Amino acid sequence: MQEKKDMYILGIESSCDETSVSIVKNGTEEIATIISSQIDIHKDFGGVVPEIASRHHVKNITMVLEECLEKANMTMEQIDAIAITYGPGLIGSLLIGLEAAKTLAWLYQKPLIPVHHIAGHIYANSLVRPLKFPLLALVVSGGHTELIEMTDHYKFQKLGGTLDDAIGECYDKVARVMNLEYPGGPKLDKLSKEGNPTYKLPIPLHDDSYNFSFSGLKSAVINLAHNEQQRGEELRQADLAASFQKVAVESVVSKTKKAIEDKNIKYLIVAGGVAANQILRGEIEKLAEEENIEMSVPPMKYCTDNAAMIAAAGYYAYQDGRVADLTLNSTSSAVLE
Ligand code: KG4
Ligand code: ZN
Repeated sequence: MQEKKDMYILGIESSCDETSVSIVKNGTEEIATIISSQIDIHKDFGGVVPEIASRHHVKNITMVLEECLEKANMTMEQIDAIAITYGPGLIGSLLIGLEAAKTLAWLYQKPLIPVHHIAGHIYANSLVRPLKFPLLALVVSGGHTELIEMTDHYKFQKLGGTLDDAIGECYDKVARVMNLEYPGGPKLDKLSKEGNPTYKLPIPLHDDSYNFSFSGLKSAVINLAHNEQQRGEELRQADLAASFQKVAVESVVSKTKKAIEDKNIKYLIVAGGVAANQILRGEIEKLAEEENIEMSVPPMKYCTDNAAMIAAAGYYAYQDGRVADLTLNSTSSAVLE
């Protein structure tokens, strides 16, 4: 029998404020990844400014690509296909990556593989261990809070999602009220370790669905902060961080538990930037133990946006026959299917 040829995929990710290029072998083995983050640039504005993000992607993309090839000690001729995040994300940012990917695909005559950003976050896990089905993916990031069931590679079924703000967005806004620097999620996470959950906050969307809601929780924290200020009381920052984390994490964990039990799930993965959260990681581990199922949370470097996850997902998308031509367009609100 002839041995299957190794497949080297070059992935490009530029959906938000990270310009990243990566080369991954057979969807599982990271060869080289370069990430150019704009966090320091957007910090002064308290969040990502789309126009500025696009301009920096233009400035960085060629450099990041060259550095990645150099680090991998490879040439474009040795690459088998190009995987690109086509959406969702900031349209101006997405377009820069897409144009780079299309140019490379055309110039070097390589297949162009469209990858949904959330599929990328899910497949970040396959860089650590193979995915097992049926699995449940809890996707928690700056733009998403979703529960997705997968019966096989690239067979996605959305069970529920946020009705308003994403959990990461909520973390960042609450952190801003507490004067923590953008992105506030990791800082709030750290601060909460020094406090106790003594502030009473409402548990969001405590119902029978698989959906989430974070705008009410965000407003509750903002109101609490203002009320304390008006009363001349000092806000106990660490206690507020701990109180907020407690309900935010409880909300996602309870819906995840429901989905595991209803759908008879055997494998749970957590994906997206908020998967870096220490409290969430701990609670999910506890849940998996209680439910007696396997789980996987990617290491920190694969949690936030990177192109390795896009190249990994690209491999499985390619096996599923997903190849685009040069008319491929970016879609800011692309649906995972
Ligand atoms: O996946 P990601 O890099 O970008 C999107 O696709 O949205 O996620 C970024 C989000 C930000 O909202 C950031 O505050 C949050 O992930 N985040 C965290 C932590 N680390 C990153 N949120 C809570 N705790 C953390 N440790
Ligand atoms: Zn992301």
